[in-house]
Amino acid sequence: MADVFTIGLGHDHPEIRKNANSDFISFWNEQAKNLSWFSSWTKTLEWTPPFAKWFVGGTINASYNALDVHQATKSEKTAIFWEGEDGTSRKITYGHLFSEVQKFSNVLKSLDVKKGDRVTIYLPMVPELIIAMLSCARIGAIHTVVFSGFSATSIRDRINDSKSKVVITADGGYRRGKIIELKQTIDEAINELDFVEHVIVLERTKTPICLTSKDKLWNDVMKNIPNICTAEPLPSDHPLFILYTSGTTGKPKGVLHGTGGYLTHLFSTFKWAFDIKNSDVFFCTADIGWVTGHSYVVYAPLLHGATQIMYEGAPDFPDASRMWNILQKYGTTIFYTTPTALRMFMKFGDDIPNSFDLSSLRLLGTVGEPINPEVWKWYFKIIGKEQCPIIDTWWQTETGGMLISPLPGLETIPLKPGSGTLPIPGVTISVVDEFGKNVPVNTKGYLIIKNPWPGMLLTLWGDDEKYKTVYWSKYENSYYSGDYALKDDDGYLWLLGRADDVLKIAGHRIGTAELESCIVSHNDVAESAVCGIPDDVKGEAIIAFVVLKHDVATTTIDLEKQLITKIRSDVGAIASPKQIYFVSKLPKTRSGKIMRRLLKSIANGEKIGDVSTLEDGTAVTEVQSVFDDLKKTLDKKS
Ligand code: WTA
Repeated sequence: MADVFTIGLGHDHPEIRKNANSDFISFWNEQAKNLSWFSSWTKTLEWTPPFAKWFVGGTINASYNALDVHQATKSEKTAIFWEGEDGTSRKITYGHLFSEVQKFSNVLKSLDVKKGDRVTIYLPMVPELIIAMLSCARIGAIHTVVFSGFSATSIRDRINDSKSKVVITADGGYRRGKIIELKQTIDEAINELDFVEHVIVLERTKTPICLTSKDKLWNDVMKNIPNICTAEPLPSDHPLFILYTSGTTGKPKGVLHGTGGYLTHLFSTFKWAFDIKNSDVFFCTADIGWVTGHSYVVYAPLLHGATQIMYEGAPDFPDASRMWNILQKYGTTIFYTTPTALRMFMKFGDDIPNSFDLSSLRLLGTVGEPINPEVWKWYFKIIGKEQCPIIDTWWQTETGGMLISPLPGLETIPLKPGSGTLPIPGVTISVVDEFGKNVPVNTKGYLIIKNPWPGMLLTLWGDDEKYKTVYWSKYENSYYSGDYALKDDDGYLWLLGRADDVLKIAGHRIGTAELESCIVSHNDVAESAVCGIPDDVKGEAIIAFVVLKHDVATTTIDLEKQLITKIRSDVGAIASPKQIYFVSKLPKTRSGKIMRRLLKSIANGEKIGDVSTLEDGTAVTEVQSVFDDLKKTLDKKS
């Protein structure tokens, strides 16, 4: 029997679920009215599977809903308490943010950025990142933010795919006291990308940089620029952003989100899940380079006119008390972070958080990966002092916002550590087998979504076919999430990790195929297979099996180093493998497919019997011998 904790915030609105269950379209129709529209929609949902258009005929602007709507009552209210890694801090009011966004929107216009044009943003966690995003949204340009930990090759691929004509970056960003030279990475990334017309450079670290004819300094372009720019009324399905994410193929997918549906989803989930109030101080630790930052750092808190904390750097810098220090300093009431961060904090010991006053907290959340029940309980007891509900929120880059989570702003239900509990109102989720049949309770299956929801992706940038194949071809008229889950006797959902070749390393999404194609592009490598193994802090760590070309005689430490350097420079430091195993052969099926599940089992010390029956008639003896060889290599290493 799982532990159960019932901690509510005093809300009880059964009518919301009732209305949502009886007619999800009318339900979302009502929710959309919480936003400010320039003109109302004529049709709530146009569903031409698998393409959904929400609030058809309505016009809206995300930047207007984040800023203009608050000016009458909240222009003096703090929108962002910004905490720099180096100890500097800034306080930005709704009024100031409004003025900066209008100015920067005029800058973009002066550079001929038009509705529908793409703008790539490669900035550290500084307020200008939010300003740049809201400015794009204001004029109808599509922002595409790239996580500042990605390498030149990764960013080049993304700029090239989106054909961004403007890139916004900084001289550098701070990470663990070191400076990451972002401008230098951009120079390398856009070399020969002639369609990039302008690069705007924010000076954050004052690192010396070389300015080219395309470059303009942020401070220069913001001088003498008018601070009025009215928000452009845009169709509800106008693309707001592209966010690249890893899938099962070598190339990251450009997930495209719209405006009216996405904002409706965020407004509602922020209210239900976080129970947001005017007096709250919200702190989400996600980097804006990932979807959690887009949805629950940028758009959702600003739609609600909330006050939030934005932190620039590493959570344990300069020491293990940094997070609790920030929480105490600003009187944080709601804290939203990742299981990886919590596992790290837990390792540092209870004395550190116990020496801070965290009594302002009233709600805690996690996102991005499964949370181990013992970590959940530590969070509940040590951080929340058994007074705060914990929301374990499940969602994806593609879903736009949360789809499974406890909703203390709506209802009080028993919480079970490790379960995301129930789907949000208006969303039907099933756990099914290969054939789409519901699996019995407490049985592992594939998580699918049975109806469209407002935050869902519009498509994949420039690739409708891939959108159909990846998400909508496995099951008829249902969205395939790529996750395993089970439903328990109470209908609670338990997320059990990815069913495909996507890894979650410290909550970051990384495709095995991307890494493999990087490794095999090394001259000495013939074949490679990458998989994840459990890691007690990061959740999962990467290991790579590598077969060298036959004329490469030895596997030197040097070669291992070269491969790691290559991965760091082609993909980024977050994708560094924990271990590389040089092997003579990889286990394959008769048709030549690498048996990844077998590799994973080997790496996890499981027995071959668990997996040998799966593939297409491969002789068990053949696989057994490769298995034994691999095991020997692994045993020698450890
Ligand atoms: C995983 C992050 C368990 C899941 C918002 C999903 C989770 C992938 C949870 C999406 C959770 C996210 N419990 N697993 N609460 N939240 N995941 O696109 O495997 O970076 O498919 O979006 O993270 O990762 P993404």
